[in-house]
Formats: sequence, structure tokens, C-alpha cells
Amino acid sequence: MTSRIRFLMCAPNHYDVDYVINPWMEGNIHKSSRERAVEQWHKLHETIKEYAIVDLVTPEKGWPDMVFTANAGLVLGNNVVLSRFLHKERQGEEPYFQKWFEENGYTVHLLPQDLPFEGAGDALLDREGRWLWAGYGFRSELDSHPYLAKWLDVEVLSLRLIDDRFYHLDTCFCPLSNGYLLYYPPAFDSYSNRLIEMRVAPEKRIVVLEPDAVNFACNAVNVDHIVIMNKISEKLKAQIAEVGFQVIETPLTEFLKAGGAAKCLTLRSTEPLREELHGNVTVESRVLCMKGHLLDAGLINRALDLIVDNGGSFQVLNFDLGEQRQSTSAAEVKVSAPSHEVMEEIISQLIELGAVDLPEDERDAQLEPVTIAGVAPDDFYVSTIYPTEVRINGKWVRVEKQRMDVPIAITETSYGPTAMCKMLRELVLGDQVVVDVQGLRTIRKPESREQRSAQEFSFMSSGVSSERRVELIVEQVAWELRKIRDSGGKVVVTAGPVVIHTGGGQHLAQLIREGYVQALLGGNAIAVHDMEQSLMGTSLGVDMKRGVAVRGGHRHHLKLINTVRRHGSIAKTVEAGVIKSGVMYECVKNNVPFILAGSIRDDGPLPDTQMDLIKAQTEYAQQLQGVEMVLMLSSMLHSIGVGNMTPAGVRMVCVDINPAVVTKLSDRGSIESIGVVTDVGLFLSLLVQQLDQLTSPYTTML
Ligand SMILES: NC(=O)c1ccc[n+]([C@@H]2O[C@H](COP(=O)([O-])OP(=O)(O)OC[C@H]3O[C@@H](n4cnc5c(N)ncnc54)[C@H](O)[C@@H]3O)[C@@H](O)[C@H]2O)c1
Repeated sequence: MTSRIRFLMCAPNHYDVDYVINPWMEGNIHKSSRERAVEQWHKLHETIKEYAIVDLVTPEKGWPDMVFTANAGLVLGNNVVLSRFLHKERQGEEPYFQKWFEENGYTVHLLPQDLPFEGAGDALLDREGRWLWAGYGFRSELDSHPYLAKWLDVEVLSLRLIDDRFYHLDTCFCPLSNGYLLYYPPAFDSYSNRLIEMRVAPEKRIVVLEPDAVNFACNAVNVDHIVIMNKISEKLKAQIAEVGFQVIETPLTEFLKAGGAAKCLTLRSTEPLREELHGNVTVESRVLCMKGHLLDAGLINRALDLIVDNGGSFQVLNFDLGEQRQSTSAAEVKVSAPSHEVMEEIISQLIELGAVDLPEDERDAQLEPVTIAGVAPDDFYVSTIYPTEVRINGKWVRVEKQRMDVPIAITETSYGPTAMCKMLRELVLGDQVVVDVQGLRTIRKPESREQRSAQEFSFMSSGVSSERRVELIVEQVAWELRKIRDSGGKVVVTAGPVVIHTGGGQHLAQLIREGYVQALLGGNAIAVHDMEQSLMGTSLGVDMKRGVAVRGGHRHHLKLINTVRRHGSIAKTVEAGVIKSGVMYECVKNNVPFILAGSIRDDGPLPDTQMDLIKAQTEYAQQLQGVEMVLMLSSMLHSIGVGNMTPAGVRMVCVDINPAVVTKLSDRGSIESIGVVTDVGLFLSLLVQQLDQLTSPYTTML
């Protein structure tokens, strides 16, 4: 024995795999050999005794996992935070460990009964004593971390575990002497990896790869320059040796069957204590109130998943279940996050989800001035598609020009403050911009069970839609188009050139002629290929009737562009009688405005193509004012652009052959979006057929 370092161990007299509480135990019930386990444990015990003092706690019958003393508690100086096991299979160990600590003169701190924390399995001190790394995600709750900071007076850095094979922090993370760290990064979420990288210099981080990680190379006991573990690859061993450590391998295969190895079998009871450093924890908690059809619309599940997926944790404090089908439910949920930054992200996503009321948030929104025109303050709140209100001087003010992904600017007027979604470039000096997530709420109609099932029916995100499903959606869209037209409403179409290449041009032209379209948004190409077809019968040089490439046809569209340029505009070319049919012809003849936004791919361009993109965006936004439905036809570029400008409540139908494009556009979390994965030419042909059959929207109701 060479140092004053002490460990606590427990002989494996009653050890066995009796139940399954982690993936390692699966298939291993009663499969470990007692004899071999005893032999392996004694070898580990003897090895550690060469470098440290080992104390023993008496094994108790019926508690097979007591052998894993790392989970007895977390010791620092004379204080110990006793474990609160998550699984009832281990909760019976708690009094035995408590007794041992009390008999050995420790001050024992007890966490609330229902707050899981699994001791040094999930809490590892930096070997220099600078801070405590604390894990959460599987066995320990994030809410236990503030207690550790308070009782042990130490800075706590919370790390979220995301791979259930590495269910305790000590299975994938091992601080070593001199500030080194042995760890398996994929076991942590990205926020935690960033935190590790911020605290541990690159030359001190020893990354373990999966083959070593599953041999529990990180579950090691470190005493000064000695590292004791189950098994290690030659490569990793050499890497560790290079920075001054000596690895001692001692087989612990029988304990691996229960998901533990060297570190799990020991509890270090003398930890470095740095008197000059003090407690600190960045964990933040807030109580949120959620209201709506929480259960039948699946809102509560989505909210709780969102909290966990973003690195937070939750506790449902109250749940008031609406009794009738039409009544709403209310829940009070305590949300905890490892930092203010993560909490803000969670809250803004919950606001987006729409069910959240912030009861304690009877505070005004935080505003910061614009100090450079066109630049928002760093922490600006990023808007969503949902109607939003901002609390200013105690009053809720509705945000105007709602759209997603922009700041909200507050302006004082003689009528009081106004709030408006502004593009970054529109911000001027003197604008006050909403920062953080305080004093904000979104207004959303509660989704009912019926709406939710309609949405599920409509979504095509799972892949290529079956023909029958496409037909059903076409029926639904035709019905809506007819309703909007007959009530004098507004439909905007965004379209790419594929509409023309697939033979859909004539159908789109018919929709315009028959008054179903109130504005067309696209790029140079849709107009070029539409007029090429009208004038020369080809689209991108392909004969549209015979489906074959025409000799010299690749130049057709350039000639068309030249012709339009000669006339000065599309309208003038139509009026001159040069263009006699097609999408652009119908737009001109029926006074349907069209905006063609330029792009780097454009040939020509046509005189009508707006190459000033800022102007093009503004003109798109103007055409989208008051729109009820947007039909997005095979243009990823223009459809996504339009999707971002469109507030919730507008019905969006996105037709594209690529499921990824459809999913991106339809999965806005809003009920009004429908995605259709199909050929756009086929879709348009079915749509006009369906509309021809609908004499009046009321006939189908009879
Ligand atoms: N000659 C030109 O001037 C020229 C030519 C092409 C594109 N452009 C410009 O480039 C920009 C981007 O063009 P874009 O909108 O065509 O490209 P895009 O890549 O943004 O969108 C094309 C979309 O069509 C989908 N698609 C392909 N085949 C389909 C089918 N059979 N049925 C349904 N969907 C199908 C694709 O999955 C894709 O999402 C536009 O501004 C356009 O005007 C200019």
C-alpha cells in the first residue's frame, strides 16, 4: 500500500444476476459463475490493496448488487450523499450502506424519497478536485444535482447520458490524475460533449472507441498513475501509457454480466477536497402549466419527449384530466435543464408546441435595443409560424405580420406599443427587439382527437404515398379549392419547371383560367419552360407530345428568353399574340399576378424575373397576405421560401416526388399542412379531373 487513499468494497457472497435492470443483464439471469466471480473479485481486491486501503461493508443476503459499492453514495470529505436507487430491486441496499457510513463517522445527507441518484456511479470528481461531473438520463435525476452542489459545496457539471448500455456515468467516463479524462463521447448528448470539451483540454482527453467501451475500459479505478480495469486494447493501453499511466488488467467478466466492472465494484471514500472552491450548479428549474387536449391530441407526450430530447428532465406535479371528450386537461410540469441556455431552448420549443402557459411568468418580455441597423441583439427570440403575443407594460400585444425565423420588434406609437415580425435587414436603430423567452405566448386552437386523426391521415411523411391515398388527398384538395374560389378566397401556387416537364402545365393553366389561383410564385424556369412549350412544343428541348428530344431543342428555351426580352415583358409578348396558351398566358389574360424570383441558375433572365432577392422576398410576402391555401408544386427552393413566410392557419399542400422535401414542408407541427409524395404532373391531372366532377361543393354533401 503506497497511499492514504481508501476504497469501500463488498465481497460477492450473495452476488448473482437475479433480475434485469440494464441491457447487460438481459439473457444473463443466473448465468454468472459464483466461483469465478469470487475469484475475480478477490484478485481485484488484492490488486487495489497494493495501492490503497480497502474497507469492507458486510454483504447482505437478498441484495446481490451490493457488491457494486460505487452506488452506495457519493463521498466528499466527511460528507456523503446516500444513493436513492431508481429500481426497487436495489432500494433495499440503502439502509445497509447508510448504517456503514454512520458507523464510520460520516455525515449522511438524504435526498427526497422520490428523487433518484445512484451515488458515485453517476457522480465523479475531477481528480484535481476542481468540480464534480454528474450524470443523468437513466438512473439519476437532474434535480438531484443542486443538492449535491449544496451539501458538498462543489461545482456540479451535469452530463446527459443517451446510450442505455452506458447507463451510469462511470461506465463511459473516467477522470484520471493530472486532469486527464478517459471517455466514450457517443454516450453523451452534444451539449454534454461540448461541456466536456470546454473543461478538459484536447491533449488531456483520451477518447475510447466502442470496442474498448463495451469492455468497460472506462469503468476503471485510478490511484495516482495506476489504472485498474477489466480489459483494454493494446492501442488504448499504449495511448494511456504515453501520458504516464500504468494499466493493470484484471478480468471481471462475471460482473460484466450485471453491467459492472472495476469502478462499479469500488467506492472511493477519500476524494480530493479543495477548500478554496465552492458550490455552484447551473441546473435551472421552472414550473409550467400546460392546457388543451393533452391526452387525446398527444400534446403531453410531445411536450415531455421534447423536454428530454433537448437534455432536460421533468416531473409532472399535477394532472387534471378533462372528463368529457370535448373538455380540456391541465398539467403542471416542473422542467429542469442543465443550463439557462438549454432551458431557453426547451421553453421556446414548448411555446411553439402551443400548450404552455407560464403561470409565474407574469413578467414583461425582455427587450434590447438594436444598436446596428439590420442586426438583432444576440439572444433575440426567433419567431414561429403561430400567432404570438408579447407582454409589454403588463399588457399582451399581438404580433403583426407573423412568420417564422425572424426577430420580433417593438415600436412605441401614440396608440401604445406595437409588435411586429421583422426580417433582420428591416431592423432599424431604435427598434426594441424581444430577447429570451420571457413574457411570450402563442395562441393556438386546441387540437382535438378528430383533427389529430385527420392530420395523421393527411401526412405522407412515411414515404411514397399509395395511389389510393393520393386520390383521397386530391379529393380533399379539390373540395377545398372549390370552396375557397366560391367564397372569394385566395389561393397561391408556387411551382417549379417540373410542372411543365411532367405535362402538368395544361392543368395548372386550367386552374388559373377557372379562377382557382389568385397568385403564382416561382422562378425564371417555370415561366421559361411554360412559354417554350407554348411556342415550340418542347420543354427543355423535349417534345411534349412525343416525349423525345428534338434536335437543337436545348437551345429552344434560350430563344424563347430572347423573344420575351425583345418584347420587353411576358405580358407584352402575350399581348403581341406570340404566346397563345399556357400558364403564363392564363396569368396575363386573367390578371393573376405572378412573381418570378431570380436564382443563380437562371438563363437570361426573363425581363420579369426579379434578380434583386430582397425585393423578390418582399413581393412574395405581399402576395401571401390574406392567403387561405398555398399549393406547392415541385419546387424545393420556392416552396421552402414560401413556407417560412407563411403563418399558421394557412392550409399548405406540398407536392413533391422526394419524401424529404415533403416532410420538411408538411412537418411544421401544424395541423394545416398536407404532404403528397407523387409525380406533380399526375397530381395536377387528377386534381383537374376531380374539379371537373365537382359541379358544386354542395352536391357531394347530398
Ligand atoms: N434555365 C433556367 O433559367 C433555370 C432552369 C432550372 C432552374 N432554374 C431556377 O433554379 C431555381 C430552382 O429550381 P427548381 O425549383 O426547379 O429546383 P428545386 O431543386 O428547388 O426543386 C425541384 C423539386 O422538384 C421535385 N421533383 C422532381 N421531379 C418531380 C416530379 N416528377 N414530380 C414532383 N416533384 C418532382 C424535386 O424533388 C425537387 O424538390 C428556380 O429559381 C428556378 O427558376 C432556372
